[in-house]
Amino acid sequence: MKRFGVSLEDNLLDELDDLVKKHKLPNRSQAIRYLIRRNLTTEQWETNQVVSGCIVLVYDHHKRDLLNKAVDIQHQYHHLVLSSQHVHLDHSNCLETITLKGKAKKLKELADRLIGLKGMKHGQLVMSTLG
Ligand code: NI
Repeated sequence: MKRFGVSLEDNLLDELDDLVKKHKLPNRSQAIRYLIRRNLTTEQWETNQVVSGCIVLVYDHHKRDLLNKAVDIQHQYHHLVLSSQHVHLDHSNCLETITLKGKAKKLKELADRLIGLKGMKHGQLVMSTLG
C-alpha cells in the first residue's frame, strides 16, 4: 500500500464526501479506490476487452414464443454463457440470470437481443470485470 497526497477544490471534496456517505464507504481512500475501479471497468467495456457480466431477465413463461426465442439466442452465444439460473417468481413470472464472460461487444450484443425481445418485462445487463 502506498500513500499519496491529493489536492481537490472544495466543491470536489464535498462531492467525494457525499459519495462516501451515499455508498456507506468507510473513508475517502475507499471512495477513491471505488472510483478508480469503476472507471477501469467502464474503460474495459468501452474498449471491447474480455470482461464478465450478468443479464437479468423477467418474463412470463406462458409466452412460449418469447421463451423459445430467448433459448435460441442463448445457444447462438453459448461460448459466452458461464451459467444460467431460472427462478419461478410466481404462477406466471420467471426471473433468469445469465452469467457471461467474453468480449464486451459480444456480451452487449447478446444482452440487447434478449432484453429487446417482444414481451420481455424487464432486462438489465450488469457490466462487471475479471478483476
Ligand atoms: Ni419459471
